[in-house]
Amino acid sequence: MKKDLLSILDLDRSEILSLIDRGLELKKMGRRVPRALTGYTLGLLFEKASTRTRVSFETAMFRMGGQCIFLNKMDTQLSRDETVADTARVLSRYLDIVAIRTYSQGLVEEMAKWASIPVINALTDLYHPCQILSDLMTIQEKRGSLDNLKVAWVGDGNNVAHSWINAAMVLGFELVLACPPGYEPLSDVLGNGNPKIRLVEDPNVAVTDADVLNTDVWASMGQEKEKEKRRKDFRGFQVNRPLVERGKPGILVMHCLPAHREEEITAEVLDGPHSVVFDQAENKMHLHQALLEKMLIGL
Ligand code: CP
Ligand code: NVA
Repeated sequence: MKKDLLSILDLDRSEILSLIDRGLELKKMGRRVPRALTGYTLGLLFEKASTRTRVSFETAMFRMGGQCIFLNKMDTQLSRDETVADTARVLSRYLDIVAIRTYSQGLVEEMAKWASIPVINALTDLYHPCQILSDLMTIQEKRGSLDNLKVAWVGDGNNVAHSWINAAMVLGFELVLACPPGYEPLSDVLGNGNPKIRLVEDPNVAVTDADVLNTDVWASMGQEKEKEKRRKDFRGFQVNRPLVERGKPGILVMHCLPAHREEEITAEVLDGPHSVVFDQAENKMHLHQALLEKMLIGL
């Protein structure tokens, strides 16, 4: 595995599959996971809010015997113009690994360039790789395999959608995205046309025969001012019961959370029989254990 996890494209197929298998194995062990990370310290340098990512990383590290230091970026000297390069070199003298949640993908890349320790992207405006790893683990757990998989994405072509695109490229599953005009994924992320990754206009078309239906908030962190405009522009892109019924009978409905009930998804669907959102949330902890183990001690 490469030193850093900045996007899903840093992993190959066998690395993704082995992280998922190990995540499932560690999940079965519950609290009896090996304390193999004793003496290791994970830094969490965050500039945006987080419930799941922060707590699941912290708990993953504690359960495996390691410890964490949470750093709100505004409380560090980065807020007073210390350079990313200097910060990276200093943090590398104390920490063993660092996970960063920020706006700019460039900042995470700059950190990785200067840090001698591994850097994990814990969400940027461009990508959310850790989310997709634990979501794939959830699909594997519920469905038994990732073979012949069709995933639908309905909503914003945002950071989470971008990481789904990356995953479809690496693993070769079918991904159909329905996004409102003007909110499609970046063409750089889509690349030069992969026949298994399609953009469609109609959410019903995206979901037809899908095994998995995925959505996310209409306004991501940092887009709060666009909230009202987006609410109008995304009309018709809500995940609701009629849309879910277009999918395969056992369709899994996924949402990385936090969700806005009755906006991008109805409460009926979020709390309904197809929804696996709380399993997704739990699996972040197990997958992060597998990831930290792999990146720190290479298991
Ligand atoms: N899904 C996710 O990353 O949640 P948080 O923003 O709560 O970390
Ligand atoms: N797209 C969302 C994901 C939150 C986990 C955001 O960036 O706010």
